[in-house]
Order: sequence, then C-alpha cells, then structure tokens
Amino acid sequence: MLQAPAWYHEAVFYELAPRTFCDGNGDGIGDFKGLTQRLPYLAELGVSCLWLLPMYPSPLRDDGYDISDYRAIHPDLGSLAEFQVFLRDAHALGLRVIADLVLNHTSDQHPWFQAAREGPGHPYHDWYVWSDDPGRYAEARIIFTDTERSNWAWDDQARRYYWHRFFSSQPDLNYDHPPVQSEMLATLEHWLELGLDGFRVDAVPYLFERENTSCENLPETHAFLRRLRARLAERFPEALLLGEANQWPEDVLPYFGTPEAPELPMNFHFPLMPRLFLALAQQRRDPIAQVLTRTPPLPPGCQWATFLRNHDELTLEMVDEVERAAMWAAYAPEPRMRCNVGIRRRLWPLLEGDRRRVELLHALLLSLPGAPVLYYGDEIGMGDDIHRPDRHGVRLPMAWDDGRNFGFSAAPPSQLRVAMPGDPGPYHPLVANVAAARANPSSFWHWLRERLRLRAEHVTLRRGEFVLLAPENPAILAFLRTMAHEAVLVVANMSPVAQATALELSAHTGWRVVPLPGARPFPPFGDEPYPLTLGPYGHLWLQLLPPSR
Ligand code: NOJ
Ligand code: CA
Repeated sequence: MLQAPAWYHEAVFYELAPRTFCDGNGDGIGDFKGLTQRLPYLAELGVSCLWLLPMYPSPLRDDGYDISDYRAIHPDLGSLAEFQVFLRDAHALGLRVIADLVLNHTSDQHPWFQAAREGPGHPYHDWYVWSDDPGRYAEARIIFTDTERSNWAWDDQARRYYWHRFFSSQPDLNYDHPPVQSEMLATLEHWLELGLDGFRVDAVPYLFERENTSCENLPETHAFLRRLRARLAERFPEALLLGEANQWPEDVLPYFGTPEAPELPMNFHFPLMPRLFLALAQQRRDPIAQVLTRTPPLPPGCQWATFLRNHDELTLEMVDEVERAAMWAAYAPEPRMRCNVGIRRRLWPLLEGDRRRVELLHALLLSLPGAPVLYYGDEIGMGDDIHRPDRHGVRLPMAWDDGRNFGFSAAPPSQLRVAMPGDPGPYHPLVANVAAARANPSSFWHWLRERLRLRAEHVTLRRGEFVLLAPENPAILAFLRTMAHEAVLVVANMSPVAQATALELSAHTGWRVVPLPGARPFPPFGDEPYPLTLGPYGHLWLQLLPPSR
C-alpha cells in the first residue's frame, strides 16, 4: 500500500488576491463575498488549494504586505464572518485555503511601531530593530533596489534609525526580542483555529540580523522556524507552511529542516522559474536540466512549490549576469518592463501570446517534481499593464465576462479601486475573460482543465520518481516520472522549429506507449532508441505501461 503523503504534497495551488478577484458588494473592491461566489469556478477548473494574498488591515503601501493588524480582515474585503463563510464554502467544495503571512516586518502604521517610536524605554521599542549608527549590518543587500538606498531609515520621533529589508514603510520586527516570537506564534495559531489550512510564509530568510553576515539564512532564523513548526505540530499537524526563500536550492534545503528537527515542509523553487523562460529564449534544455541536477533530494514528507509567474516581478536574483542579460533581452526589451532585479510582466505577454509556449511551460510545470502554483488570470490569457507603477501592472482585476467591468464589479467604472486595463489589445478582457474561455471548447482554459484532470488521475505525474534523460538533441528536454505500475515520459521541444530525437529507454523495452490525453497508442518500445518528432514548442506526455501479460 502506498502511504498517502500530506495533502499539500500533491496539491495544485491557485494564487489570487481577494482585492482583485471579484467584488461581491458593488463598492468597486474585490472581497470575500465575491470570492465566495466564484468558488465553484475554481473547483471546476480543478485546482485544490487557494493561496490568498495578504488580507489583513493595512495602509496598502505594499499591497497588504505591510500589515497593521494581524488578527483582523481588511475592512475593504469584508467582515470576519464573511471570511468564515468563504472558508466554510471552500472546504465544502474540497478546496483548501492558505493565506499569506508576513513574519518579518509590519506596516509603519502598526500600533506596535507607533508605540516603538516613543523611544528606548517604551515597552514596544524593542519590538523593532533600532540603531544610532546606519553603518551596522553593512553586508546585507538591498532588495527593493528601485526605491531604497539603505536598509536603515531615520525616525524623527525616536531619533534613531530603524531596520527594514523592504520598503522603509515596513520596519522589520526584532526576533531577538522574545515577545515578538510569542506574538507571531500565537497569530499563526489564531488563524489555524479559525480553520485556515496553512500559510505562505513571506520573506523567511530575513528574520534575524547579525554583524558581518548577509543577514540572510542565519542559524537563529532556522531555530525560530523549528520552534514554529514544533509549536504547530501537536494541534495542527496537517497545517502547511510554505516558505518564500528566494535562494539557491542548496540554501533553501535547510528551510525544510530534517525529520528530527523539521522547519517548513514546503518551499518555493525560485531558481527553476527563470530557467524555464531562459530555456525557451535559448531554444535548449540546458538551463532547466542544470538547475534540476543542482536540486538536492528533499527530506521525506517535503515538497517544492513550482510556479511560472506570481504577483511580483519575475525575479532574476537567482541567475548569473550573463543569464540575466539574456533574460532582459528576450523578455524585457523596454526599460519600463523591468522592476528591481526582475521583469514586471504577466505570462501571456511575456510569451508574446504564443499559445504553444504557454502550453509547453504549463505541461512542464504540471509534470516536473513539485506542487504547481498557478497565478490567477493566466488560465484565461490575462494581460498586464506596464504603465502602472511598481508591480501593480500584473495585479489587474479578474475578468469574468464581457459585461460592466467585465463581471468584476457592479460599481460604476470610475469607482473601481483597481482600474481595468484601458488599452485594447490581444489580452483585452473583452477577449480574455472566463465566460469566453469556457464557451470555447478549444480555449487554453479547457486545455489546462484537462491537464489538471490528467494530473489528478495519474498519481505518477504527482509522485513518480524523477529521472532526467539526456537525448543528443539539445533542444529536447525529456524526463520520466516512474512508479511501480506505470511511468510517464515527458518530452518537450524548447525550440520554434520541429525537432527529431531518439530516446534511450532500454529499461522499458516492450512497454506500451499511450499518449495523454488519450489518443491512438504509439508503437511499444523496442530495443532501439525510440524515435520521436515534435513540432515547434511541441511536447508529449506519454504513459508507459508494462507489457500486458
Ligand atoms: C514578498 C512578497 O511576495 C512581495 O510582494 C512583498 O513586497 C515582499 N515580500 C515584502 O513583504
Ligand atoms: Ca467590495
């Protein structure tokens, strides 16, 4: 008997912002009431866990990643009761829900910080990291390079500098101060008690600061994460902690912890993401193959979260300078497409609206090891707006139909808090909306839904052991997912012209070959390398079955 892994191991995640998903009360802002109405849509698509972007009270200087109250729902999004109805209805449809939680910093409007500004001696002063000397921790890099010049900011009231790894409106909490740790642990428990299934834990590498270090991945940070996991283990053993550590695979590995001293059971695989795009730009599999080879095996029960795009810029922190230059050239030819060390565009415009490339990247995302995380709107071909500031251009309202505000809100268009894109084009919501996608049986939406169904049907696609193949043709990426009863062979052509390959699969001589989705079987494997031809950006999912007796 197969031992069932934790629920999140095989989940398909769907990242969304309640604020831009659906407006249920007609005030021009998306909310939990609207999201609740759209739950059947998400269940129909076939995702299994929703990841909610920050939903707490916030002055929204960083779209909610600047929290001013950890125990409440932002009034724009509805009441706590409405959140609970949403949670109940999601669970009734078999959907899990995790929420973003920001441990590292608060808003400068948080009452803790306002109290801390009273200066040394005030009980809240030590909740934040202060210094009289802005030269401390000089080795810590600046993350928001577009907006910040220093990780220290002067506070006129406290007459000291405070530490912030992100915007200066987001002072870092001081994890060396025990009450901070206790409060954040209690916050997690609070939401789990309300029924949440876990958290996407924001910015985990930066919790502690130490002189003469990069102030990232410190042993103290790992010790706190172990404490956090241990605290939840007893009452909430199923709770997911999905860590955001934008680091090399070997540096992310410690965030999983060990079986004896576990930390976060799931972490994003950041370095894989840009290499999926790089491989397409360079028309060869190498970038993907290399990063997968560099990815260490995980401790039992742990899992990667993989993704193509998210609510931030497509980060290029985990590529070298040559690779970054290639990425800028291919995907961000205009300066305003860039942001910090990354590219602020959505998936479809990045891939020039080329359905073949969109399908290819999704086919890889859904068959490579890891639990895939989809970004809302990609399923309907949503566009972006590079004229909006910061990362707002990739956070447009979801389009549901061709009616008023494209079904997002019944408010007069002038009242929308986040305006619909004005610029008509191939990704205009008039074309790229849910109703249009569902009505067209050959849309990408139906393609994706079918692939999600196949992934749900074939345990091998979710759990199979990963074996990378090395065909002679450098444009071809090929790998197996294998289990005792079947294997799935994935073959992808990273280039814009047809490519032929022959795969060495002697271990599977005599096995039957059935394409997924099902069509006429291919000839079984013989003794010779197996010949395949793939069209431009083509791919195959082939189910391999042992010879029938
Ligand atoms: C990571 C989040 O994804 C990003 O949107 C945010 O700005 C930073 N953390 C700071 O909280
Ligand atoms: Ca609303």
